[in-house]
Amino acid sequence: MDGSAGAIRLEWEQWFSEDAVGSERGVRASEIRTVQRALRRVRREIDRERADPAEAVRRRGSDEPLDYGFWDCPRRVLDSWQQPDGEIRRIALTAERLARLAERHIVLGIGGSYLGAKALFDALADPYHNELARESRHGRPRIYFEGNNVDAAQLAATLRAACADRGGFAAPFSANVISKSGATLETSVVYSVVRGALEAAERAAGVSVRDCFVATTGPTGILREAGDGPDGFSAFFDVPDEIGGRYSVFTAVGLMPMAMFAAGGMDEVYRLLEGARDMTDRAEGGVWDDNPAYQYAALQHIAHTKRKYTIRVMSPWTRRLESLGFWYDQLAAESLGKKETGATPLTMVGTRELHSRGQQHQEGRRDKIITNIIVESVPEDMPAPRIRGDKKMSDLLEGKTVHDMSLAAARGTNRAYREDGRPTMSIILPVLDAYTLGQLMQMLMIATVVEGKLLGVSPFGQPGVRVYKERMADELRR
Ligand code: PA5
Repeated sequence: MDGSAGAIRLEWEQWFSEDAVGSERGVRASEIRTVQRALRRVRREIDRERADPAEAVRRRGSDEPLDYGFWDCPRRVLDSWQQPDGEIRRIALTAERLARLAERHIVLGIGGSYLGAKALFDALADPYHNELARESRHGRPRIYFEGNNVDAAQLAATLRAACADRGGFAAPFSANVISKSGATLETSVVYSVVRGALEAAERAAGVSVRDCFVATTGPTGILREAGDGPDGFSAFFDVPDEIGGRYSVFTAVGLMPMAMFAAGGMDEVYRLLEGARDMTDRAEGGVWDDNPAYQYAALQHIAHTKRKYTIRVMSPWTRRLESLGFWYDQLAAESLGKKETGATPLTMVGTRELHSRGQQHQEGRRDKIITNIIVESVPEDMPAPRIRGDKKMSDLLEGKTVHDMSLAAARGTNRAYREDGRPTMSIILPVLDAYTLGQLMQMLMIATVVEGKLLGVSPFGQPGVRVYKERMADELRR
């Protein structure tokens, strides 16, 4: 579907090929032929593992999970859209109920149970969502993210804001506790504090605290066991066993928070999933042409293993995609940072970071590959102004818009890097909306799995994260 309305694309040849930056630093035609053969092998391996994950785990003789559930998740959710008692219907009804119940909604979670929802919120909601009047928020509550740290001062401030007043609503806030395991310390601590605060505030008011809390969790664990009694939750949403945290954005982990803030309601959620599904279809076509997920994986693999670009910079040219960058940081770091390999992911926003890191990128160590995310067209643009007291600059901007300036900055920066033999690539979004974001997130998840296969590491599981949790518990026992 490349070229069809709204399809995202990867632009690399003019920035990263040997013709662009020379054969020492760019990708050679011979390397593309070699990697295409490797991609065909990876495709066969992925198809085999997806068809029978249990058999694949047995053959490998390892207890690392094979969490391929994310791959077909958008298709599955779209197929079940009309089911009267399906999860999507429950998400829609619960979101409406919670929006009527309270003016504020707190999303509690960390890592894969947080970053996807935050990326969706920052990319799709009005940047000043929480400050808008309720009608301008399309009746959606103000949204807060907590439970992603142990930061007492921050938590105290959130509680003050959340419990400040009920603004004519039955309760001061509602909350969604997201934790696949139900056992993550940060989320558990903050959940207990927040629930305690609401219980104290509501003792007199007579609102059922249970009505204010929903949980998004795995099939077992403490949250699930709390049940739907007075000390439990008014609704449960599932994190399927076969989907790992950082791959879970198209489950209730991302969709329930989105239903709480989306101005376009469930139609917007549908578009997100359609984007993801369409990207999956492209990823299942040929391994190279019209397959940005496989191409991106292969190019990053060459950058890392053949050119020793050990730092991978994701550079959106809009602040709205900064959290998407942080989401990808986790996806790449936890999936590929194993066996003493895997590039170090990093997010920077253009043009902002050009004024902080730009010098290092242009003339510092040749250890990085930059991937831009460029949005071609924006819904609200404005003519570039005349600059008071600066005729030269005003002449330069004549006839341009502010968005033209952003596009010129991105292109100009890439040219400057290329002139010094520094490669880049760009993911181009025709617009930034739910449909293109769905494509982008599914592209990066599929690419991460493909890259793990090329690199020889399991893209699922995060054994290293367990170690810090154990040592932290040791410290608390002292
Ligand atoms: O990607 C992952 O699996 C992790 O980042 C988890 O999402 C994170 O540790 C939180 O775990 P949980 O959802 O069990 O609270």
